[in-house]
Amino acid sequence: MADDLLQASAWKALERHADDLSGSHLRDLLDQPGRFAALSRQHDHCLLDFSRNRLTADTLRLLLALASERDVPRRVQALFAGEVVNATENRPAQHMALRAPASPPLLVNGADIRLEIEVERERMLALADAIGSGEYRGASGARIRHVVNIGIGGSDLGLVMAIEALHEYRTPDLAIHYISNVDGTQLADVLARVPAAETLFIVCSKTFVTWETALNANAARTWFIGQLGEAAVTRHFVAVSVNAAAMDQFGIALEHRFRMWDWVGGRYSLWSSIGLAIAIAVGSEHFRALLAGGHALDEHFRTAPLADNLPVLMALVAVWNQNLQGTTSQAILPYVGRLHRFAAYLQQLEMESNGKGVTRDGQPVRWSTGTVIWGEPGNNGQHSFFQLLHQGTASFAADFIAPVEGSSPYADQHLVGLANLLAQAEAFARGYTLEAAQAELTARGKSPAEVARLAPHKVHPGNHPSNILLLRRLDPHSLGFLIALYEQKVFVQSCLWGINPFDQWGVELGKGMAVGMHDALQSPSGAGLPPIGHVVRQWAKDS
Ligand code: F6P
Repeated sequence: MADDLLQASAWKALERHADDLSGSHLRDLLDQPGRFAALSRQHDHCLLDFSRNRLTADTLRLLLALASERDVPRRVQALFAGEVVNATENRPAQHMALRAPASPPLLVNGADIRLEIEVERERMLALADAIGSGEYRGASGARIRHVVNIGIGGSDLGLVMAIEALHEYRTPDLAIHYISNVDGTQLADVLARVPAAETLFIVCSKTFVTWETALNANAARTWFIGQLGEAAVTRHFVAVSVNAAAMDQFGIALEHRFRMWDWVGGRYSLWSSIGLAIAIAVGSEHFRALLAGGHALDEHFRTAPLADNLPVLMALVAVWNQNLQGTTSQAILPYVGRLHRFAAYLQQLEMESNGKGVTRDGQPVRWSTGTVIWGEPGNNGQHSFFQLLHQGTASFAADFIAPVEGSSPYADQHLVGLANLLAQAEAFARGYTLEAAQAELTARGKSPAEVARLAPHKVHPGNHPSNILLLRRLDPHSLGFLIALYEQKVFVQSCLWGINPFDQWGVELGKGMAVGMHDALQSPSGAGLPPIGHVVRQWAKDS
């Protein structure tokens, strides 16, 4: 098989090297002089410390050789050049163009997409600012005070995450609401809260055929017509999509449609008009700063040598941990509450991109790909799931993320959070030995029998790998940088694994089956339902 990771000579060298390293513990590695300098990199206001992974400078050398052997530099070039990197959908992936300043023409299918991007961006930002300033009013002349984003997946997660992260930059007196789930609870809650005359709905859907979004948007429209009448719809509903016909059908006015392009994947789309809710929430200036931060990362990614390239290093370390150290999931642990939706956002980015079982040429992979991503703000996690991380049997890797400057006026509190971050990263790495536990208990006056009984329960095996990502502060620019850093890290991982990160066929099977289930649930016989489906059908009838 041509694209066989396991046959790469750098891979074989890494396998041998992993064997050689298998006896060493992070607590010993960490005490080697010069380790932090050798295994950390800084770019602008972002510092990556990857010294708490079970690797050495030799490992890094071999990993960099793997990046070269797996053609990472050429693939990065192809990505930026607009080549068809998504072969199963015959598309380039040009989300970087959305955050690039005006520059030389960029052709997709012979058309210069830069002009279109700029036109749409300016239209979108003009609307955002007009809403923020109160210049744009509802049909009755009322100021818009509520914005409801109706979308799911990439048309929800990125914008929610960013709006939460940039709370300090929010336009006052403008509430943003989200409806993504199809179960009706968000819909009911939001519609109960918003006064129609002061509300703008954004129907946010690349395809405009996503079932959940279509149902929610139509329900919101029906509710709205009941409140203010059909004539007001055009003033209160805007949409973002590639699907002009569906927007026609929904009754979205031409001036309230914002274009998307098929060369932007949903999970990479917050930089486009899909980010309209972000632009409304924080204003055009901050939205532009977010784009600039993303572009700064792209420039770093495109031009920095592999050995200093943050996304490349993060990807190499992640692949080392997963494929050669046996970690089975990646915890995302931000030490700032504003990033509380970051793990959820990364779940789609990483798991929808790299959750693939075949190589680019359709051969089954013989190595593990994709990563189970999960996480919570770290300080909360300490008082919940960290017990398992410290003393359970799971094998995981973690990313600690924190701005050094806090987002609140409570600087002392933020410093306590940072102290916890440092402590947890050290504790994951170093652990706590049986000898240390015995010595502690003895020093506390416990009898030898008590020491023997209790000491094993106090052992922390340690040796758990983690990165620390420090930002100076969490602002629109650094958030853009951070998001793009993970996007490009995911891309590099896909190159190493030899898979296509830009398609998502795996979401289709269940979607199709759900249509059949829905029909069967409503049919007289329930034919086609699995046994439990008949219970659902019966209970639904009874309720
Ligand atoms: O079902 C998965 C998915 O296609 C994602 O890739 C996408 O972000 C989401 O659904 C929403 O799609 P759309 O923006 O077209 O409604």
